[in-house]
Amino acid sequence: MLRRLHPEQPASFAFTPANQAWAEAQITKYPAGRQASAIIPLLWRAQEQEGWLTRAAIEHVAAMLDMAYMRALEVATFYFMFQLQPVGSVAHFQICGTTSCMICGAEDLVAVCKEKIAAKPHQLSEDGKFSWEEVECLGACANAPMAQIGKDYYEDLTATRLAEMIDEMAAGKVPTPGPQNGRFTSEPKAGLTSLTGDNAGYKYNASATLATDIGDSIKRIDGTEVPLSAPWNDQRGGEAGPVVKSDSAAGKKPAVSKGKPADDTGVDKREATAKSKAKPKTTTEKAAKPAAKAKTVAETAPKAAEAVSDEGTKPQTLTAARDGKADDLKQIKGVGPKLESLLNSMGFYHFDQVAAWTDEEIRWVDQNLEGFKGRVTRDEWVKQAKLLASGGETEFSSRVKKGNVYDT
Ligand code: FES
Repeated sequence: MLRRLHPEQPASFAFTPANQAWAEAQITKYPAGRQASAIIPLLWRAQEQEGWLTRAAIEHVAAMLDMAYMRALEVATFYFMFQLQPVGSVAHFQICGTTSCMICGAEDLVAVCKEKIAAKPHQLSEDGKFSWEEVECLGACANAPMAQIGKDYYEDLTATRLAEMIDEMAAGKVPTPGPQNGRFTSEPKAGLTSLTGDNAGYKYNASATLATDIGDSIKRIDGTEVPLSAPWNDQRGGEAGPVVKSDSAAGKKPAVSKGKPADDTGVDKREATAKSKAKPKTTTEKAAKPAAKAKTVAETAPKAAEAVSDEGTKPQTLTAARDGKADDLKQIKGVGPKLESLLNSMGFYHFDQVAAWTDEEIRWVDQNLEGFKGRVTRDEWVKQAKLLASGGETEFSSRVKKGNVYDT
């Protein structure tokens, strides 16, 4: 199944202040340079907040983690748990259609969804309140058939009960999650045969009790449901900083991994770090200094590229763009925002610089683009740059000018 971004997208995304603080706390779980590890929880939180995962949200999360947009997009499109299209404003029903649930009546549940919500999965109901889809096993097979609605599992469903639940939700009620046939958990339907007790006085099982206690059933997470907690920071003696009073709380832009090691490429931090370790003499101690004026051109330019290889010949570089005005190197196919920043930090700002690279100089640049090795040759930058430097256009550069490109 093709998973693509929805054609209609909102212009922007921002976490609520509470969700922003939560997201920044998650990032502190990981060592410097490994912030990208937080991508799934952050994308999930963005989806919880908005109902579905928008392009703006994916890009916002990528920027927080200093990742190339493309890498974040790959994660979002790979996992089916991420909804890439709008879902019902009240609830999105995920009906498990795998073996246990299918045997126990999942097809009847799907029929209810088709009748009461929309004929096809991922379509919104006429009132926009509901949507549905069939999903693979959700791991609650002992309570088949079941559905995930919002964050909660509704188990031991029947077609009649599901239809009632849809009506209840349409009327603003929140059905209690968990088994819908009177079972407490997944005990025999006829009742417990051993360890019989009174369920310690609880009306619902632990998971349903938690959901009802905090009142979060089918409600989206806005970050205020539970206090923000980051016990891993407490164990470090707070060295990762007071997460609640984060940069975002002070109104600053997210720049969580700024200045941390192995962030230059924004793509494969592990690879970058491994290479640095393998060649200690070519890491930060020996790095070329960033061009002093580069920030006037690209405020967010990373540090200068590390000269990890002395193959080939280093081309002539500039300390800053001529007249303070760099060319838009992103018009070269294969150069995205990250690579453009990287090139600027190496002293390349103009098409004519790239156009003049000799074979030996191409070899040097290709070898020194950490995380992007081989791009110059693969994407024929010099050929493209020659055309652009002479005032011409490529099919790709005209798309960039129209803002119709999604690249690293
Ligand atoms: S088969 Fe439906 S939850 Fe496993």
